Amino acid sequence: MIRSVADFSVFNQAVFVRADFNVPMDEQGRILDDTRIVESIGTLKHLLEQGARVVVGSHLGRPKGFPSEALSLLPVGLRLAELLYPLVPEIRFSEDPTLEGNKKLFKELNAGELLLLENLRFDKREEANDESFAKELAQDIDLYVNEAFSCSHRAHASTVGMVKYVPQKAAGFLFLREVGMLRRLLGVVDRPYIAILGGKKIDDKMAVIDRLLGKIQTLLIGGAMSHPFLQATGALLGTSIVDERQVNMAKGILDRAQKSNVEIVLPIDAVVSRGLTDSSAKIVSLDSVPKDMGVFDIGPKTVDKFERCLLSARTVFWNGPMGAYEHPPFHHGTVSIAKALAHCQGFTVVGGGDSVAALQAASLTSKISHISTGGGASLEFIEGKTLPGILALAQTPARNRGFVE
Ligand code: 3PG
Repeated sequence: MIRSVADFSVFNQAVFVRADFNVPMDEQGRILDDTRIVESIGTLKHLLEQGARVVVGSHLGRPKGFPSEALSLLPVGLRLAELLYPLVPEIRFSEDPTLEGNKKLFKELNAGELLLLENLRFDKREEANDESFAKELAQDIDLYVNEAFSCSHRAHASTVGMVKYVPQKAAGFLFLREVGMLRRLLGVVDRPYIAILGGKKIDDKMAVIDRLLGKIQTLLIGGAMSHPFLQATGALLGTSIVDERQVNMAKGILDRAQKSNVEIVLPIDAVVSRGLTDSSAKIVSLDSVPKDMGVFDIGPKTVDKFERCLLSARTVFWNGPMGAYEHPPFHHGTVSIAKALAHCQGFTVVGGGDSVAALQAASLTSKISHISTGGGASLEFIEGKTLPGILALAQTPARNRGFVE
């Protein structure tokens, strides 16, 4: 079983919280969506109110061991300080992600104070799940708390490696809420069960589809994710670049879906343009994409088709936008799917930063059964995979379904 952070007496205890502050930022270092920071506050406040000495670690982006100002967690620290004020008058920020290099700050930490470490991925040993880094992070820590469900599919030093070197381990409130809601998609679910996949990170999602085929009835695919599938069915997508390897994977998936009686619904029309900022955008059928234009959104006929599928759905999981939704006029597809989902009477789960941002922009989040902070993690969880970050928290090893009861 996994214990809750609420089960521990933490007064004057050193508690390491692995948070996921991997938030979208603009070029000036401004946070575009602080949901992940806000959602972690419950656990942090609980620990601070109980008088713990709290050390928080997170990654931001994929710096691959190369520190840069653009991926510094300093802006996150400032937002965190605002959210925790006046409970914590000021938070401390360590520029060294290892406590080894910054023992002084840690030693000076009093009960009810918080130290935020710099981006853990500035040290390449984090992603390598390096033992020496795991030990450094765990040194002098009494309780490890994982509040980064959205990173639990990554076996890194801060999500897995360090856990065994800390005497006690627990999950944070957000982590437990995520697991509780998402596991509703693992057992017997109300049918029809429809998955909607869009956006990028195509390789990750390709791997997921095969495992979903045994669970869902219908798969709607939009956004860049649909391009290899469209090309596999003979469509020519103008200037949109499609990876041949992914086209071959798509062919295999289409074949297996047919054998498993799963309907894969692909776009039939699209919004095409010469570029994101070009004024040439127009709607065309997918058999007549101009050679000098690329595909940037699903078209109105596709929206209609997807909406009709969603009308009868009893369970829906959505991950990934239908197009370049952050650049009007390419937002209609994603916003329409967000609206259709908000009207769906069934159990609806949305994961992935972009889909959630689209729901937020349309003020529709309250109409969704569960908004997950996890993109890749929630996908792998609903596949039924054992996630390493969850397994590391289990008091006894989990056997299946990524979760221990
Ligand atoms: C996410 O945004 O899905 C998590 O923070 C994990 O990030 P990663 O895909 O870079 O490991």
